[in-house]
Amino acid sequence: MSSLLVDNIGELVTNDARPGDPLGVRRDAALLVEDGEVAWVGPARYAPAADRRLDAQGAAVLPGFVDSHAHLVFAGDRAAEFAARMAGEPYTGGGIRTTVGATRAASDDQLRATVRRLHGEAMRQGTTTIEIKSGYGLTVADEARSLRIAAEFSEDTTFLGAHVVPAEYADRPDDYVGLVCGPMLAAAAPHARWIDVFCERGAFDVDHTRAILAGGQAAGLGVRVHANQLGPGPGVRLGVELGAASVDHCTHLTGADVDALAGSATVATLLPGAEFSTRSPYPDARRLLDAGVTVALATDCNPGSSYTSSMPLCIALAVREMRMTPAEAVWAATAGGARALRRDDVGVLRRGARADLMILDAPSHLHLAYRPGVPLIRQVLHNGVPQCP
Ligand code: NIG
Ligand code: FE
Repeated sequence: MSSLLVDNIGELVTNDARPGDPLGVRRDAALLVEDGEVAWVGPARYAPAADRRLDAQGAAVLPGFVDSHAHLVFAGDRAAEFAARMAGEPYTGGGIRTTVGATRAASDDQLRATVRRLHGEAMRQGTTTIEIKSGYGLTVADEARSLRIAAEFSEDTTFLGAHVVPAEYADRPDDYVGLVCGPMLAAAAPHARWIDVFCERGAFDVDHTRAILAGGQAAGLGVRVHANQLGPGPGVRLGVELGAASVDHCTHLTGADVDALAGSATVATLLPGAEFSTRSPYPDARRLLDAGVTVALATDCNPGSSYTSSMPLCIALAVREMRMTPAEAVWAATAGGARALRRDDVGVLRRGARADLMILDAPSHLHLAYRPGVPLIRQVLHNGVPQCP
């Protein structure tokens, strides 16, 4: 078993919280990696001997980002739709069917190549855990293969057969919900950890959403919900009622939605890349945080509403546009994402956690928001293994 000592760390963000210090920041610290895990964290002067050394050169070291919401299995792009939005068209989600057509027409190898490209892109920007959804196949075979391919890249795969009602079922949505709850779920469940529904006007109503999520739970899947993105609605409260790990978007919330979240273990996952790319008002992160809600940040990487894999961009947007402090945003992009995936082995750097971390080209975590758009991720370790730049 070979060991690696990361030392000369200027600022170590552990997320091993101490009173008044949710980021668990340590100075002049070192960290020992053994067997893909963090074996020791402490003051550099007490660092144990190791086989190899990685000199952080006085920079900041953070847990790898946990991107808890991404749609990476698709074909084609919708750049023209983006351009039309920037010229004044609204975002309605109607373009999802365009991507469904392209995805169905693509080969497994084409889909796999896209996931590999986006996964690598995310990793180079510090993401070491990424949830991957299906949702652009919307047939039994295309949802199953989307999840099989997703599972080659992530342990956190999510069945989103209820993304929209596909065109061939447009006039019989009940039949489509029957397909999702029956044969599609049966084919998807062996490859999925989670189930998700786009609960929104124009997608799935509350009764359909409840039936699909309950079916997923009965098949052993954990619950997450796309909720309250385009307007107010019942999705957030339904998610809380069903014990969802996370309700995602949360852009249009009532006081009752915020209260329900605050009294629950459900995380509110905010996706500022979607508001950026659809030119929509951002969710009110401050209101959620002040009410005591656990907030995560994720990219929502997808070809329609948010074609970015960049967690640093999401942090910068959350700080500038959503009134989060840099510390809150960094926590939400690491430990918050881990909570949203109900994982305690990532998003934190303490003994026994996965050795998933990044070394910045900067002295502190503040620079992630302070220097927007700058490639600040110098080195990434995943399972203790340095990744190629
Ligand atoms: O999370 N809201 C639903 N699904 C995606 C958008 C998908 C698309 O436009 O292709 C989202 O924003
Ligand atoms: Fe999404």
